[in-house]
Amino acid sequence: MTFNRHHLLGMEGLTQEEIETILTSAESLKEISFRDIKKVPTLRGKTVVNFFHEPSTRTRTSFEIAAKRLSADTVSLSANTSSLVKGETLVDTARNLEAMNPDVIVIRHSMAGAPHLLSRIVKPSIINAGDGMHEHPTQALLDLLTIREKKGRIAGLQVAIVGDIAHSRVARSNILGLKTMGAHVMVAGPPTMIPPFIESMGVSVTYHLQEAVVWADVIMMLRVQLERQKQMLFPSLREYSRFFGLNMKIMNKAKRDVIIMHPGPINRGVEIDPEVADGPFSVILDQVTNGVAIRMALLYLLLGGKKGEMAY
Ligand code: CP
Repeated sequence: MTFNRHHLLGMEGLTQEEIETILTSAESLKEISFRDIKKVPTLRGKTVVNFFHEPSTRTRTSFEIAAKRLSADTVSLSANTSSLVKGETLVDTARNLEAMNPDVIVIRHSMAGAPHLLSRIVKPSIINAGDGMHEHPTQALLDLLTIREKKGRIAGLQVAIVGDIAHSRVARSNILGLKTMGAHVMVAGPPTMIPPFIESMGVSVTYHLQEAVVWADVIMMLRVQLERQKQMLFPSLREYSRFFGLNMKIMNKAKRDVIIMHPGPINRGVEIDPEVADGPFSVILDQVTNGVAIRMALLYLLLGGKKGEMAY
């Protein structure tokens, strides 16, 4: 077991051994969430601040639940209820949080690099919960855990990531993590949503959904992020859905043991039809369950498990 980091800023730079350590720790910690008393004393006396500058349902809630299941104290701060609205800078906010001596600051911010900036100026461990269009490492880790759980391995699998690759921090983190773990990755979407030179990340590209669906052991659908687009990258949502929406008709071309993933929130009827999102191939809610386990593992490894002992 090797994990000797103070921060978790991205999938970039994480070794295969470090990812293995996080996944194995999460697998071990997961059963705590299914006990009658869902709490262990492992992080008693530690304080976790959740600082979310952008909306979140899954990431924020699961960090809070993860910390509480390990008996850490938690505080939540959002942009519109903090003094950021009065003009306080991110750096001043972080320094003021640090002055209250928390052990971890979990940050989601619309600015790429915000967690990296904080990691250079404050002492607590920083966890990146999504920074602009850059990275969302805990999402990639929970996706890797879900793939390993459902398929028994990651290495050698064929994973198709479909949709708005250009605006997606989930796609970037997943490509980095999947490649490190030995998977083959294909990205699919309209040309306007595929960034140039994406092949340099070791992925193949298709502009045809069917090609990706036929090829894949795992299909990871992405949300169309209208809020991040400066201009419409396709004529209409209806047009997008027609060519890149995952529906039952195209699912008939998929492998019979394929799994369908989506980080959420879902635009039902746009990138994925309800029958697919709620159907037998979908592992979307398993991803959410695994989000708690992954975040427990990260808090544990960053705060309590640096020597690799599993004392909980
Ligand atoms: N997957 C994800 O990041 O969801 P939230 O925005 O709800 O946290």
